[in-house]
Amino acid sequence: MLIRRPPELPTREITDESLYLNRRVWLAAAGMAVSALPTSRLWAKTLALGAAQDDKPTSYKDLTTYNNFYEFGTSKDEPARNAGTLRTSPWTISVEGEVKKPAKYDLADLIKGIATVGRTYRHRCVEGWSMVIPWNGIQLKDLIAKLEPTSNAKFVEFTTLMDEKQMPGQRSGVLPWPYVEGLRLDEAMHPLALIATGIYDKPLLNQNGAPLRLVTPWKYGFKGGKSIVRIRFLRTQPATTWNIAAPDEYGFYANVNPAVDHPRWSQARERRIGSLLKQATLPFNGYADQVASLYTGMDLRKNF
Ligand code: MTE
Repeated sequence: MLIRRPPELPTREITDESLYLNRRVWLAAAGMAVSALPTSRLWAKTLALGAAQDDKPTSYKDLTTYNNFYEFGTSKDEPARNAGTLRTSPWTISVEGEVKKPAKYDLADLIKGIATVGRTYRHRCVEGWSMVIPWNGIQLKDLIAKLEPTSNAKFVEFTTLMDEKQMPGQRSGVLPWPYVEGLRLDEAMHPLALIATGIYDKPLLNQNGAPLRLVTPWKYGFKGGKSIVRIRFLRTQPATTWNIAAPDEYGFYANVNPAVDHPRWSQARERRIGSLLKQATLPFNGYADQVASLYTGMDLRKNF
């Protein structure tokens, strides 16, 4: 994502033909009789097979050593090496804006009484890599219900800690700090959206966004703001970090969409961390049947 340092980024290497051939390889690997299917049905079948992607959870080691958390450096290995400076206890979250229960909450109080869940989700980074993550946490909708937004609330904003001592990467101008992300309220209320506090039944490590982070599996990974200290309910759409940094490249919606290229690379395929082969990226990261109705009537090329 880093604007000034492109070598890690996938380039536009995929022609339509090679995409088609790769699709055939992928279908063959999935045990399908490729030659028996006409192309259009082949494609429909590929999309329908979303759930049949190899969704084996990524290893704990990869999940905790290959990260994006620019507050601790821009290389994938830096968050694991540098995030030891972050103190996650005690941790206070300020709930603000259009909400009936604004207050500063200790994390334990914030989530007290809310049922915990375990959910294994695909995780697709806008850079072209992906993972499968067994999250622990709570459903965001349950937290929102507890906090009681007013009828004026239309968006929710999530802000990461701002503290150069604990997060030395904030001394660099690589992004406008603090890191801010946001959702429309109805997106935030979707049952798939989580506030994660753990991975693999263990508390989140700092590099993964301890002690709490946002998880929206149908969106590119940058939506998932880490180490959240403020949740604000708003009447209007919040300004979000990557959208401020590069508005042509990172939209507010950030829905995973293989049909809409990033200006500098294709989004049609992805590489699962731990696997050599690339695979097709699915609309809404394979969750279209559950979330597409949130966007009925919207032009997803404009609202990328
Ligand atoms: N949150 C903060 N505060 N800072 C970041 O740099 N990176 C985002 C997102 N949340 C980021 C962040 C990006 S680009 C991605 S892909 C995911 O975190 C990566 O999450 P992971 O390291 O747990 O895979």
